[in-house]
Amino acid sequence: MEFGVWSKGLTALAVDCLVLGVFEEAELSGEARSVDAASGGRLKKLLERGDFVGRSGDTLLVADLPGLAAAHVLLTGLGAAKQFQRKSWRKAWAAAAAALARTRIKSCAVALDRPQAKELDDYYLGRAVAEIASGAVYRINDLKTGKKQPPAALERVLAGPVRKAAAAARGLTHGAAVAAATSVQRDLANLPGNICTPRFLAEQARALAARHTGLRVRVLDEGAIRREKMGCLLAVAQGSAEPPRFIVLEYAGARQAQAPIVLVGKGVTFDSGGISLKDPPGMDEMKFDMSGGAAVIAALTFAASLRLRLHLVGLVAAVENMPGGKAVKPGDIATSASGQTVEILNTDAEGRLILSDALHYSRRFHPAAVIDVATLTGACVVALGHHHSGVMGNDQALLRELQDAGVRADDRCWPLPLSEEYAEQLKSNFADFANVSGRDGGAITAAAFLAKFTQGMKWAHLDIAGTAYQSGTNKGSTGRPTPLLADFLLKRAGR
Ligand code: BES
Ligand code: MN
Ligand code: ZN
Repeated sequence: MEFGVWSKGLTALAVDCLVLGVFEEAELSGEARSVDAASGGRLKKLLERGDFVGRSGDTLLVADLPGLAAAHVLLTGLGAAKQFQRKSWRKAWAAAAAALARTRIKSCAVALDRPQAKELDDYYLGRAVAEIASGAVYRINDLKTGKKQPPAALERVLAGPVRKAAAAARGLTHGAAVAAATSVQRDLANLPGNICTPRFLAEQARALAARHTGLRVRVLDEGAIRREKMGCLLAVAQGSAEPPRFIVLEYAGARQAQAPIVLVGKGVTFDSGGISLKDPPGMDEMKFDMSGGAAVIAALTFAASLRLRLHLVGLVAAVENMPGGKAVKPGDIATSASGQTVEILNTDAEGRLILSDALHYSRRFHPAAVIDVATLTGACVVALGHHHSGVMGNDQALLRELQDAGVRADDRCWPLPLSEEYAEQLKSNFADFANVSGRDGGAITAAAFLAKFTQGMKWAHLDIAGTAYQSGTNKGSTGRPTPLLADFLLKRAGR
């Protein structure tokens, strides 16, 4: 998709469609007024008749208004003018973009008013226009046979009204890059577990690295993983016929000497639970258990595509968790790469096991910060639902930074209290500690486990179990938390 900015002359603009906002009071917003005047009051008449009432989420497509270069006008509801906020604008544009994606309309100009929305400056406008447009035309890479749904026709979107065209243009560029990275995550995560295996994930990382300058990749196979003594990762992998892979991505957009930010992703390509087998309902959704790994791969492509001045390392521990004859059993003890021993009381708590070895691996880079991303616990979904990812760690400034990035990116996370007491729940009589405790505070005890491997490093953990994908009729990857990570990286790069 191609993006740009429009500034003046909406009525003479050579696009297929003008997207205009209507408040619930059936009031035309500023931009719509000029269009209405040019068309001889047709829009006003339409509102007076009650054909469109401006409810948030509603849209109405009108064709062939006189006095306009554009053949179509798409009205979209901004909700009540008094309650207008950034969210109302987003919802209005998202509804409009979704409606446009179902038509043959190829180009449009976004001309929604945004009164006193200070978090909706020209830069943010550009970013949201691009991100939302790209999200609306995204199609799941499904394996349906028969007639394919044609791709959306929308290929050119102009953002406005803006005062600072340069800021908006910068926002559009960043937004398009965020959207492209988000699609990388979604495409990988939506694939079934029989296609997206650890080896496949590694190949995809290789292919993406080949397409992005400055991005390099190294893949550790089972032998190399063994030489790294990643006993916890191998314990998870041993029940599967699919061999594990450990993917190391590096993006050197800054002096190599600069301490890197290390992103660590959980790449469980299918989580059956292992011997601690999961219940059948919804087990198919455990193909999304590599979403964190996909987000890490996506984040590195994002940095490379914008040539951010950053030194980044991405680590993805890719395994399948299966109950084979050689599978790890409850009570088995594994030795992690850090040398610490772990009693595996529940083989379904596999994410923390593979992450522990990946987090330990990150030490060799002497990182400025380590952030792991994982669909780690059902308990996090219980605690926060599907709106916020959980965030925990050992550095308050880093946690704040991630929270702020989430707000700006509309991909929020919320802190859970990782205080010392939680680690006590992991006591074991047989090893240094166990991989699970009871149900209570499960999202936090999982983080407390990870904390045993990150001492001395600035570390944060994002639990995306409730946010990375949707269930039900809209089942599919959301692409979260790629927008959050992208925003974090933009800020770190000073962009
Ligand atoms: N991948 C799951 C976590 C998960 C659950 C993600 C639901 C998305 C939705 C993870 O490996 C897991 O199984 N965690 C267990 C931990 C428990 C055994 C301590 C869980 O949350 O039940
Ligand atoms: Mn599990
Ligand atoms: Zn899992």
